[in-house]
Amino acid sequence: GNNNLNAKLVLLGDVGAGKSSLVLRFVKGQFIEFQESTIGAAFFSQTLAVNDQTVKFEIWDTAGQERYHSLAPMYYRGAAAAIIVYDITNTDSFVRAKKWVQELQKQGNPNMVMALAGNKADLEDKRMVTADEARLYAEENGLFFMETSAKTAINVNDIFYEIAKKLPRA
Ligand code: GTP
Ligand code: MG
Repeated sequence: GNNNLNAKLVLLGDVGAGKSSLVLRFVKGQFIEFQESTIGAAFFSQTLAVNDQTVKFEIWDTAGQERYHSLAPMYYRGAAAAIIVYDITNTDSFVRAKKWVQELQKQGNPNMVMALAGNKADLEDKRMVTADEARLYAEENGLFFMETSAKTAINVNDIFYEIAKKLPRA
């Protein structure tokens, strides 16, 4: 078969959940304490080797601000994968993540690989959303779940790698 796969991937989630930070960590291995809020969306690409294949991710990092919500379908339409990001220290961001999941279930590609990322896992002392609650929600809704930290890099490559493994092969 074809050993190279291109996969459109979109990140969705509340303002400040850490979407851009996860992408920056994955693509450039960096973290910025004062990451600026995204305007519209930003594009990145990164290639991963999975077994004997390469997966080239074409990544759309969307803006969480509500005024950009109407742009989101342009980015998730035709996407092979989505990472829905919330901040474990912010309950509202978890509520917002569940709304994104609902929207994707209604309007997204039915074969989309969906991951739920509970980001800022380094801030354990400020945690407001338990891992058990999020894991249960993910299981019930057909997503896979990981807690990540763009700051420490924990589970960042892993979440992209898991997605790459789950993508349907031609
Ligand atoms: P919008 O573009 O506004 O939708 O936000 P976003 O989801 O892209 O969030 P962004 O990556 O800009 O991160 C917001 C803030 O959280 C920044 O100050 C980051 O430095 C911080 N941040 C992101 N990820 C982490 C993390 O894993 N741990 C900690 N401690 N801070 C983080
Ligand atoms: Mg951003």
